[in-house]
Amino acid sequence: MDERLQKLREEALGKIQVSTLEALNELKVSYLGKKGEITALLKSMKDLKPEERPAFGQMVNSLREEIESQMETRRKQLADAARTARLAAEEIDVTLPAKKMHFGHRHPNSIALDEVERIFVGMGYEVVEGPEIEYDEYNFTKLNIPANHPAKDEQDTFYINSEIVLRTQTSPVQARVMEQGKLPIRMIAPGRVFRSDEVDATHSPSFHQIEGLVIDKNITFADLKGTLAEFARKMFGEETKVKFRPHHFPFTEPSAEMDVSCFKCGGKGCRFCKGSGWIEILGCGMVHPHVFEMCGIDPDQYTGFAFGVGLERIALLKYEIDDMRLLYENDIRFLKQF
Ligand code: DAH
Repeated sequence: MDERLQKLREEALGKIQVSTLEALNELKVSYLGKKGEITALLKSMKDLKPEERPAFGQMVNSLREEIESQMETRRKQLADAARTARLAAEEIDVTLPAKKMHFGHRHPNSIALDEVERIFVGMGYEVVEGPEIEYDEYNFTKLNIPANHPAKDEQDTFYINSEIVLRTQTSPVQARVMEQGKLPIRMIAPGRVFRSDEVDATHSPSFHQIEGLVIDKNITFADLKGTLAEFARKMFGEETKVKFRPHHFPFTEPSAEMDVSCFKCGGKGCRFCKGSGWIEILGCGMVHPHVFEMCGIDPDQYTGFAFGVGLERIALLKYEIDDMRLLYENDIRFLKQF
């Protein structure tokens, strides 16, 4: 072999044991690249005598192949080593103890609300929502509670300004739905309400209600009683009896409060129902004609009933929780019991 080629061969093969793929690539470029040494040799062929060219060309080509194949061998070694190193770095110790996943738990309020919604949706009711920040007009005036009405005192709340309040009840959703003018109406409206009450075992400045409203032609107090009695049986058990006591709400006439027979003692009287056998559960009544008028519905054509349930009250009763504050502490040990 030509001495030049011999030298180049030794030099190239001597360098091949580089330690990185990048270095190998540089080496490849410097020998086999466009401006590489082997390429230069091939170009130099034109200076040879024509008869010398074929033999020289063959030698250069076989040298090129040798270098190429050695480089490829080295490339494989380096790539394998890199992969092995990466796998070692990513190794997972499957014997380590697993991190425990902590799942939350559904809140008694949510469980109770789902139950109430399931019952009413089953009777063909739609579930709607209204704003928690509400106009004083919807929260009070349109519900027949004018500016100086004493009911406004009982539901003192947080004022954003003189016209906007944090709603004290879900009843304003009644006015909002009525105003849309799509009749008949059969809806429940669950949501958060606010009052400036001190926190104790039965009060909180923020709690939840579920409003109900049914409006159609020929709706009577019998429909109200039948519907709410059915609700009570589904919610508290088939044996449950209901009792309506006359009451006053400005937006219904007549109005009532509904008690259910104590589902703990069956009505005999126990600690749970404070000896009376009955537990107060909700307010209700026939929609007041004046409310119909203010919301654009003709009271000579339509009648309806409405009701309002305290969600916490239901949850506390159903799950026998004796302090409302427990519902707001979000202690998972407490919540997991339900
Ligand atoms: N909004 C009333 C309250 O917070 C509850 C209520 C009573 C709602 C009678 C009604 C109803 O829809 O008809 O005390």
